[in-house]
Amino acid sequence: AAVVEHTFVVSQVRMNQACKDTLVTVVNGQVPGPAIEVTEGDSVVVHVVNQSPHGLTIHWHGVKQRLNCWADGVGMVTQCPIQPGRNFTYRFNVVGQEGTLWWHAHVAFLRATVHGALIIRPRSREVGKLYPFPKPHKEIPIFIGEWWEMDLIEVDRKMTHGFLFQFPINSTINGKLGDLYNCPGTLVDNSVMEVEEGKTYLLRIVNAALLSEYYLKIASHRFTVVAADANYVKPYTTDIIAIAPGESVDALVVADAPPGKYYMVALANQQPPPDTQIPLLGSRRVVQYRVKSSKEGDPPGGSLVMAPKMPDQHDTITTFYFHGNITSAFPHPPVPVDVDEHMFISLGLGSVCRGGRVSSPSSPCRGFELNESILVATMNNISFELPTIVPLLEAHYHNNMSNAGMVHKLPDRPPIMYNFTDQAMIQYGSEEAALESTSKATTVRRFRFNTTVEIVFQSTTLLQSDSNPMHLHGHDIFVLAQGFGNYNAQRDTGKYNLVDPPVRNTVLVPAMGWAVIRFVTNNPGVWFLHCHYGFHMSMGMAVVFEVDDGPTLGATLPPPPTDLPRCEHHMSSVAY
Ligand code: C2O
Repeated sequence: AAVVEHTFVVSQVRMNQACKDTLVTVVNGQVPGPAIEVTEGDSVVVHVVNQSPHGLTIHWHGVKQRLNCWADGVGMVTQCPIQPGRNFTYRFNVVGQEGTLWWHAHVAFLRATVHGALIIRPRSREVGKLYPFPKPHKEIPIFIGEWWEMDLIEVDRKMTHGFLFQFPINSTINGKLGDLYNCPGTLVDNSVMEVEEGKTYLLRIVNAALLSEYYLKIASHRFTVVAADANYVKPYTTDIIAIAPGESVDALVVADAPPGKYYMVALANQQPPPDTQIPLLGSRRVVQYRVKSSKEGDPPGGSLVMAPKMPDQHDTITTFYFHGNITSAFPHPPVPVDVDEHMFISLGLGSVCRGGRVSSPSSPCRGFELNESILVATMNNISFELPTIVPLLEAHYHNNMSNAGMVHKLPDRPPIMYNFTDQAMIQYGSEEAALESTSKATTVRRFRFNTTVEIVFQSTTLLQSDSNPMHLHGHDIFVLAQGFGNYNAQRDTGKYNLVDPPVRNTVLVPAMGWAVIRFVTNNPGVWFLHCHYGFHMSMGMAVVFEVDDGPTLGATLPPPPTDLPRCEHHMSSVAY
């Protein structure tokens, strides 16, 4: 196995898109940042040189980091941010995973521009049989993102303080706005993907957006999905890919249409309801067949570009079926049948009193009025806040979680029975839909090593059309089932796929629905579980899972690397 070494210089640069200069934080001057390409089993060493004005961390999204939680890179969860002018070297191994993962900043909203691919190729089993599918002619990363003409630290600050939503100007593919949004008169040839007739391409697709799920289509072409979150799936052929923030999908595309030009379109499919005033988010690039010989002259198809028919922006059914059709390709370690701990986590919105006053039945601080309360996102009606003095992993390692500030146990269920998905409650204004009074806390749930945990995630009415891509660090999760409406154990346990459920790092909880996962706590440390929407995470839809050592099973968290950043001053959640 090799050592793959990179240096990531993080800095602020001016980039011009849509005729406007924006100051963005980037790695090595580019968006997406450099792709890390490894063979399964390799070690990765990344020297992060922080020349930006922000404290930051880099997270290796989906890398299991077995017995290596110190390298997980979550600000104030596993480490203090790397301060401006400082460096830190991440070291980790990539073991037992193949496919596409990615890396991104894990403080505030910086990941919108601080991200890149982590491509894991198999160790050659037999010559010429690298992949469990026909060898592609080329591999092409497709990063779906957003372009924000704003300071992302400021956007995060606004959202964490309840100033409602900000929006990007539009979505991007590989960092570029689609041709519709460029300066009039400029030629955008970087948005062309050239293909050769008859050849097969492996698209490594990542949704790096903060705000939305996406639909991806190429006119007149079909995809065969072969992996998701760096786990092989049973080849699944579809003309559309649905991908939520945090997810990655590997899909084969054969250039088997009549030679010509075709649009690839990424359309945000998850939006507030139609009455909300926000711009349509979508981006496109051209898939163009190569001219076979210079004699043929003009590119095939002339100037005509075929456009795919996209689903409605508010279509939640297509993504539901796309996700439901994904099954594991190979027998994994079998799905654990004996569940040690059952959890039920409601995902919702609530309000906390502005100015820190704790709400109580006699002083409820209810309501949506912004001058009185702050809108927060919750799990079991508690809104997560990051500790400000000691990162949780350090506190865990020294067996002193109380040093990390107000650490609370996440309750097993929400404190009151919500009317989770009652359509009648959909209007914010109505009396019954008043936001729950919520508390803010650093919620932690502690597990013994090797506990089998089942979690039912339940979306709630106030989230309206928001799905929730829930991402768990450091563990494989088996996605057993999903459904619309309220989860009902008697009815729904029979729907669990215990045979070939997909193994993922992110589970998409459908809007107004539920999803069930299982996992085994086989990795000591503290692991973030959060919604991968930037705004849901900043608003508190998160919890930390603390996994104890299993010394008799050879699983002990080693001591921290000696150069781990220290918290130099009080890390307020808005200061980075
Ligand atoms: Cu991709 Cu905690 O994140």
